[in-house]
Amino acid sequence: MEHATMMRLENISKYFGKVRALNNISMDIRRNEILGLLGDNGAGKTTLVNIIAGALAANQGRMYFEGQQVEFSSPHEAKQMGIDTVEQHLSLISIMSIARNFYLGRELVKKIGPFKVLDQKRMDIDCKRAVEEIGVRVRSPEDLVSTLSGGERQAIAIGRAFYFGCKLLLLDEPLAALSIKEARKVHEMILQIRDAGSSVVYITHNVFHVYPIADRFVILDRGDKLSEIEKENVSAEAIIEAIATGTPVKT
Ligand SMILES: Nc1ncnc2c1ncn2[C@@H]1O[C@H](COP(=O)(O)OP(=O)(O)OP(=O)(O)O)[C@@H](O)[C@H]1O
Ligand SMILES: [Mg+2]
Repeated sequence: MEHATMMRLENISKYFGKVRALNNISMDIRRNEILGLLGDNGAGKTTLVNIIAGALAANQGRMYFEGQQVEFSSPHEAKQMGIDTVEQHLSLISIMSIARNFYLGRELVKKIGPFKVLDQKRMDIDCKRAVEEIGVRVRSPEDLVSTLSGGERQAIAIGRAFYFGCKLLLLDEPLAALSIKEARKVHEMILQIRDAGSSVVYITHNVFHVYPIADRFVILDRGDKLSEIEKENVSAEAIIEAIATGTPVKT
């Protein structure tokens, strides 16, 4: 059976010592949607996506992915199921080449006699093509990531998720370091990812960044879910008001 729900969270709570970062959060991420995850600094947005991505364990609650209960003990496990993340503070490895970063965890290998070796040449060629498709001009895929700007790094990380395909893409402040041109390209990619049937959770402080492309919104407030609402029932201004006052969206 085809589930309209990609992922379901039930009663997720997370504490850091005495800090209650998430309080009993239940929500759905639907197939084929861009879900804007909004809230002020410290609202719990990054904590929530880290739990979904297997980078953090919740203290309480359950998660279901495509109808199956899941417990991820590492980001690798989540990735295996098709959950990809572009983190708020990007973790490309700067002393490795662009191509190696692009293929991190998915390296192409070739066989030479009884041995398996990295197929560096193919990775370089494919990476260059994919990265150019994203609209980032790199001098060479062999260049180290440390030679790229923050925006170029972010675009490559998003492009990597786009290129390899995923069921659920988690984006934490994806436009933070991007130029206007790069940002537009990233939005185009996000729309394409959704239209291909995947789900996107898009975190941002800036409601105006996500409002034009989102289908639905979840607003967090100091660890609580304040509102979960369809775009057609809410304006960007009403969302900002809710975040500023900590009161649920008025419809
Ligand atoms: N590793 C940690 N140890 C202790 N406290 C943490 C940790 N990570 C997050 N917190 C706390 O949990 C709360 C939620 O943090 P989180 O990073 O999820 O917020 P956020 O909504 O992503 O904020 P921002 O918009 O600033 O990125 C905050 O009070 C934060 O200080
Ligand atoms: Mg955050």
